[in-house]
Amino acid sequence: MSRTHRTHRIAVLAGDGIGPEVMTESLRVLDAVEARFGFSTVRDERLVGGAAIDATGHPLPPETIAACEQSDAILFGSVGGPKWESQPPDLQPERGALLPLRKHFGLFANLRPGVCLPSLTHASPVKNELIPNGFDVLCVRELTGGVYFGQPKGREERDGEPVAFDTMIYRKSEIDRILRVAFTAAMGRGKRLVSVDKANVLATSVLWRETANEVAADFPEVALSHLYVDNAAMQLVKRPDSFDVLVTENLFGDILSDEMAMISGSLGMLPSASLGKQNAGGLYYGMYEPSGGSAPDIAGRGIANPIAQILSAAMMLRHSLGENEAAAAIEAAVARTIDDGYRTGDIATGAAAEIRVGTAGMADAVLERL
Ligand code: IPM
Ligand code: MG
Repeated sequence: MSRTHRTHRIAVLAGDGIGPEVMTESLRVLDAVEARFGFSTVRDERLVGGAAIDATGHPLPPETIAACEQSDAILFGSVGGPKWESQPPDLQPERGALLPLRKHFGLFANLRPGVCLPSLTHASPVKNELIPNGFDVLCVRELTGGVYFGQPKGREERDGEPVAFDTMIYRKSEIDRILRVAFTAAMGRGKRLVSVDKANVLATSVLWRETANEVAADFPEVALSHLYVDNAAMQLVKRPDSFDVLVTENLFGDILSDEMAMISGSLGMLPSASLGKQNAGGLYYGMYEPSGGSAPDIAGRGIANPIAQILSAAMMLRHSLGENEAAAAIEAAVARTIDDGYRTGDIATGAAAEIRVGTAGMADAVLERL
């Protein structure tokens, strides 16, 4: 890799709740890897979500979109909270900012790792004898199609009563491209892919399954299997360690990825990536955010686990900025921090060997191990 100094532009959207406090820590970690690996990031910090509503009246102001357009990637905190729940739906922090960002930037591939480290199985609600070695599943969720965005969508009056409708629709090309992301991810891991659908009921799922079987021909080393979504939901709680990579459409992925995050024990540990266009060098335009959300109940108390945000920055370094060594260094430092016993409240058991820390203390421990 070239040792000339590299500069990347990132849009930093901290948002609401614990977003700003965990973002601060992830930026300190970014500072440290930049110094060590010889690159820099130009950071454009912008408002999003409730913070943007308070300042401008809109959860996704045009200046924020413009800043994202001028960047190589978006590092996102979290949005939402009780203060903005009475906003009209399209002006709520989640729907009014997240969904338009996904659509605007064509972020069709959502990667959500669900990792339960062997040392943190106690935090999982799954019976520990079922997961003696923890588990490591990657959920690949289609993010810009299906029933979330399909038209027509709406509400009207029929026979004197209101009816509402959504349209679940997929083009073959949309299915093909998300399957390719999932197969490629599987090639870099355990080479097992489970495609989740509802092909016993839904036409979109029949097309999904057909397409998955076709794409499989280009990835002969990957073992592809299919599960109906209801069965997948059961298998995930019963034997999560049987999965390697799981791929599914938007709504199924919304639900299964939350189930997976919950069984992994701490939302505070899980990053995510939403990937769009890929350039000639294989890097994606992407948005990176913790899986856990804004956690308004613990916001501002300095106790939130910053690891999800720190690992989101690592995913950004890998998938959008091509700084793979820096990404690997962060991931290794986080793993050592956990091995060495550092615990925020969400992953603590009270065992004597644990070192209880808050948000900044956890980041300090990661920085010491970088
Ligand atoms: C998620 C969230 C969003 C979704 C909501 C907030 C619109 O649940 O990122 O999973 O449904 O995709
Ligand atoms: Mg969700």
